[in-house]
Amino acid sequence: MTQDELKQAVAREAVKYVVPGAWVGVGSGSTANCFIDELATIKGRIKGAVSSSVKSTERLRAHGIEVDELNNVDDVPVYIDGADEVTEHGAMIKGGGGALTREKIVAAVGRKFVCIVDASKLVPVLGKFPLPVEVIPMARSYVARELVHLGGQPAWRMGFTTDNGNVILDVSGLSITDPVALETAINQIPGVVTVGLFARRGADVILLGTEGGVRTLTPSVR
Ligand code: 5RP
Repeated sequence: MTQDELKQAVAREAVKYVVPGAWVGVGSGSTANCFIDELATIKGRIKGAVSSSVKSTERLRAHGIEVDELNNVDDVPVYIDGADEVTEHGAMIKGGGGALTREKIVAAVGRKFVCIVDASKLVPVLGKFPLPVEVIPMARSYVARELVHLGGQPAWRMGFTTDNGNVILDVSGLSITDPVALETAINQIPGVVTVGLFARRGADVILLGTEGGVRTLTPSVR
């Protein structure tokens, strides 16, 4: 199977987690795009979607799926999104596509986080994929120095502005053995908007696309 076929397989499986008559939280990226395309097949059965990026909103609307502002929605039973890396404990690195802040907000509202990935994203320890950190532009150099103190090598994602008007530092060289502690530490740096570590609120369900079919992991401890 190609990587695209694995993404389509997990997207098809994810649709089974969508609650009829309710709002669904929708992530961003190529795997989330596959999910949006699948969601279109059951659009008559949901209230609509809340979206984590301008691009996902455009794709949802192109399919005729209603998208409302998160402020107007008080219950999101399930949030479905991809990841750049995930552990079997449900901790993730996200933000490769730069939508980490809105993803973290919608995920926080979601009662269940369903992470959809192909098997290449499952890792024993997070950190091989550079950790994205969204930063207020005037704080870029200061935050970069602080990230060096934490043992990382930050690189400015040149020419990229987030949906919120901020910049991204991609931090390599980290071996993240305690993702909750590192998420908390980076959150404390003034100027950081969001760190792409999703460990304090990790995945409740991981749908893993493998050659042998979709495996379902249900992390209980993070
Ligand atoms: C975007 C994200 C994506 O979920 C992550 O980058 C995975 O993307 P893809 O499904 O294209 O591999 O966090 O900000």
